Amino acid sequence: MTLLKVRELTKQFVSRGEGLAARKSAFTAVDNVSFDVELGETLAIVGESGSGKSTTARIAARLLEPTSGTVEFDGQDVTRASGKELARFRNDVQVVFQDPFSSLNPRYTVERIITAPLTYQGIAPAGGRRAFAQELMERVGLNPDHCQRYPAQFSGGQAQRIGIARALAVNPKLVICDEAVSALDVSIQAQVLQLLMRLQRESGFSYIFIAHDLAVVRQISQRVAVMNKGRIVELGSRDQVFGEPRDDYTKTLLAAVPRINPEWDRRRRAREAR
Ligand SMILES: Nc1ncnc2c1ncn2[C@@H]1O[C@H](COP(=O)(O)OP(=O)(O)O)[C@@H](O)[C@H]1O
Ligand SMILES: [Mg+2]
Repeated sequence: MTLLKVRELTKQFVSRGEGLAARKSAFTAVDNVSFDVELGETLAIVGESGSGKSTTARIAARLLEPTSGTVEFDGQDVTRASGKELARFRNDVQVVFQDPFSSLNPRYTVERIITAPLTYQGIAPAGGRRAFAQELMERVGLNPDHCQRYPAQFSGGQAQRIGIARALAVNPKLVICDEAVSALDVSIQAQVLQLLMRLQRESGFSYIFIAHDLAVVRQISQRVAVMNKGRIVELGSRDQVFGEPRDDYTKTLLAAVPRINPEWDRRRRAREAR
């Protein structure tokens, strides 16, 4: 079942020059982008910095209006949804950002942070807030005894787990991870990736997983979209994109990565030798 359907998304940013000769100029950050996300799958979006990944994600999450194009979620056109419909969409689609600390209120305890989405919606968890927060903390591998601590008392990896717990508090159908592990040390990164994959197995939601690091993407995705200068230049299964890339830009990206899979490497060399 198709959960998210984006069609022909375009986003132009208009900037105004300075001074008397100021002229407006439009810059196309996202250019005619279309893709689907199936229920329960992980679609990765890869590309260099500035290729339009975050802008695409922000439009898909309706944090940003597109210049043109449509976003359909769960069979509904939500491009211009408002009121109740938008509130439901905002519940169903959660975003985890790169910098865990800047997205966690430093003056709130973890318990308050994790249960905040419920508070906004006026939901009171059956067993109480404390138990709810503690259960989520356990699910994401945090010590539930630490629920009264503040973000600054946690490491970067732990803080990202708090952000993940907050995203899961409302039972989303789609979680958008925008460079969610990019700021973490490699060993911590691997642990958080394992966690993300386990949570998906347990709950069956979908991910849009945005990263510039192809080794990370290869671990977590089923399908991969490659972006370059605002456009999707290639979209296919993980094995196709990594093993048999068709687009020249994808090939360049892959060539720049330290070897990540000896088997793909062997196949690539065999192909090049033909
Ligand atoms: N609010 C904005 N105003 C003007 N330009 C922006 C804005 N947001 C992003 N951009 C530009 O759009 C392009 C794509 O940015 P972004 O989507 O953040 O790329 P990525 O996430 O792939 O690094 C970049 O050139 C960026 O500078
Ligand atoms: Mg980005």
